[in-house]
Amino acid sequence: MKVLGIETSCDDTSLCIIDYTPDEQVNILSHISFSGEILLRKWGGIVPEIAARNHLAKLAPLMKEAFEQASVSPKEIELIGVTTYPGLLGPLLTGLNAAKTISLLHKTPIVGVNHLFAHLEAIHLTEKINYPYLGLIVSGGHTLFLKVNSPTEIKVISSTVDDAAGEAFDKGGKLMGLGYPAGALIDQLARKGNPKKYSFPIGLDDARNPNLSFSGLKTSLRVFLENNPSIKSDSPEIADLCASYQEAIVSALKKKAKVAMNLVKDDLPLVVGGGVACNSRLRMIFQQNFSQVHFVAPKFCTDNGAMIAHYGLLIKDQAISFPECLNLDAKSRFIDKKDFISR
Ligand code: KG4
Ligand code: ZN
Repeated sequence: MKVLGIETSCDDTSLCIIDYTPDEQVNILSHISFSGEILLRKWGGIVPEIAARNHLAKLAPLMKEAFEQASVSPKEIELIGVTTYPGLLGPLLTGLNAAKTISLLHKTPIVGVNHLFAHLEAIHLTEKINYPYLGLIVSGGHTLFLKVNSPTEIKVISSTVDDAAGEAFDKGGKLMGLGYPAGALIDQLARKGNPKKYSFPIGLDDARNPNLSFSGLKTSLRVFLENNPSIKSDSPEIADLCASYQEAIVSALKKKAKVAMNLVKDDLPLVVGGGVACNSRLRMIFQQNFSQVHFVAPKFCTDNGAMIAHYGLLIKDQAISFPECLNLDAKSRFIDKKDFISR
């Protein structure tokens, strides 16, 4: 079965064509992404209108390339998975309209994908994990612990009450003068630094509270930089600062993962996905602290079309066909009270 995945929730335009064998083995025929980071860097962050325009400019040429590289024609696609939520509305609409166009032209079934769930379920692109598992999504916009009972039964255990972990990296990096986005650069600089050199706080540091908070950390970095004006992005101290700041984020995630694990009670496997799951320190500390931890492969961590195609396949029973696909809608938020585990 040939599945096309389309992801345009934020600043990455990403397309993937996967050919599944009858026993659902993954065979990636093409996976092409354009990172809007380069275009958004000069604005110091994501500007939704500009991100949407970048998707509009890139979608058609990338689509052509994806089909050529896969040696597949649009009419051979048997299912389209497209991110419909959560994300920025303008960017989402570009991808959704591309998906609807192919669906209308070729009567291809189409399924709207929650791109957060896709971040976690991307684990199955490289490993087989049994359900249920405890999921941790750490991305630029979200930080959530979830109990995943099946591809369609996913409940939120806890979340950040303010900034996401990726936001803490990006906004912290901006304060340090490292540009946007700063997660990967902080990770790289921190490798040469001492994580114990400076002390930064852990938000909501209470073993009974499974929620996270990163906004106080950002403020404490701002105050630290005001008190240490000689530390700049090219100072020798920057490696220690990155390592110490990163340590506070990783320690918070580790502590809260233990709280979430206690709440679900069973000794479940822990699956970590989303852009911040690329972080080398997070990977190391989690591997030392959790016996059954599985990280999504780095190439499938940041927003990508492969995870959307794959999650689309997992929920293919929800696919709709011509002409209902015209009613498919994009939504910027997904969290609803019903998505939370009641405690
Ligand atoms: O999942 P993603 O591509 O987009 C969202 O859905 O938000 O995640 C992007 C985030 C950015 O905040 C970026 O700084 C962060 O992932 N990131 C990292 C690393 N690579 C990307 N954060 C820490 N360490 C990394 N190596
Ligand atoms: Zn994402």
